[in-house]
Amino acid sequence: MKSKYADLKLNENINKVEEAATYIKKGKIVLFPTETVYGIGANALDENAVNKIFKAKGRASDNPLIVHICNMQMLKNLVQDIGKIEEKLINNFWPGPLTIIFNKKECIPNNVTAGLETVGIRMPSNEIARKLIELAKLPIAAPSANISGKPSGTKIEDIIEELDGKVDYILDSGMADIGVESTVVRVVDNKVHILRPGKITKEDMQKLGIDVVIEKQIMEECSPNEKVMSPGMKYRHYAPNTKCLLVYSDNEKELIEEINKQIKNSSNVLVLGRTNHLEKYNTNNKLDMGESLEDISKNIFTLLRKVDSYNANLVIIEGVKKEGLGLAIMNRLIRACEHNYIEI
Ligand code: TXA
Ligand code: MG
Repeated sequence: MKSKYADLKLNENINKVEEAATYIKKGKIVLFPTETVYGIGANALDENAVNKIFKAKGRASDNPLIVHICNMQMLKNLVQDIGKIEEKLINNFWPGPLTIIFNKKECIPNNVTAGLETVGIRMPSNEIARKLIELAKLPIAAPSANISGKPSGTKIEDIIEELDGKVDYILDSGMADIGVESTVVRVVDNKVHILRPGKITKEDMQKLGIDVVIEKQIMEECSPNEKVMSPGMKYRHYAPNTKCLLVYSDNEKELIEEINKQIKNSSNVLVLGRTNHLEKYNTNNKLDMGESLEDISKNIFTLLRKVDSYNANLVIIEGVKKEGLGLAIMNRLIRACEHNYIEI
């Protein structure tokens, strides 16, 4: 059966959010927009409803979900304590694309946190997401909207085939603003550890006088038994079926030369490059990533979903500087390329 669908780009359909909220209350699952990527949501306090998310995504049961809230009372109901640094992060970055890990209260079912004593929580800035939570009067557990391993869904057209019929309701509000998932952080010994980089950057937090540590697994390959601060770090993610190579240099000329050398050494190459570089690449198959880091962040998942349709022998992806939002982009790209990476 097809999922119920509402196109929220049409204003008159805004009352559909209310209908979707009744689905959440009934223990059903709803695909909804956030400012980062789309999510597949269920009542975070209902173990059976949350199980439906794992089933729809084919998600490993040891990978915990983020709980989405719309006010501070909800946070207090879900977590043991809110430290000084967490408070500072909340005051500066919520509502917004930042997930904070807290010690959880009993009311959160074990499947939400994959058996961990901690829970990741965020208050999204997307108004439809917040309205959905507010009308359901429930915290909503939601992973990114995609089959596990695939790029996260940033527009419905990309994911409808994958998820139609597997969720009960779809709220479509057009392309997600940011395009990469939230920054995930945990405070340990008065330092903020970044477990997944996103739009809220190390630099944004440092400006507030906070000490920030970037977990090394963000850019490195995890060995199977390695201890990680976030289960999500261990999983294969975002990689197309076609072999991908990520190339980066601080020097624009060297970057373009290296990519052209790789094009020459292979056949039938597709390049994902910045707008201003595209005409310099000696191949007919090119996809435009955009120019600013904001453009690239917004476009990257939808582009990664397209690459297999080119039947190329190799996809070469232009890297960006690992600074600011660039770190989040490189974290996704290095995984898409399964650590097949050249830095000159
Ligand atoms: O922007 C986002 O965060 C999107 C939207 C829908 O909100 N959600 C999202 O969820 O990306 P998901 O499930 O695709 O990624 C959640 C990540 C995973 O890497 C997971 O391991 C980590 O957060 N995580 C969740 N709870 C955690 C916890 N208690 N401790 C450590 N890591 C946790
Ligand atoms: Mg995900």
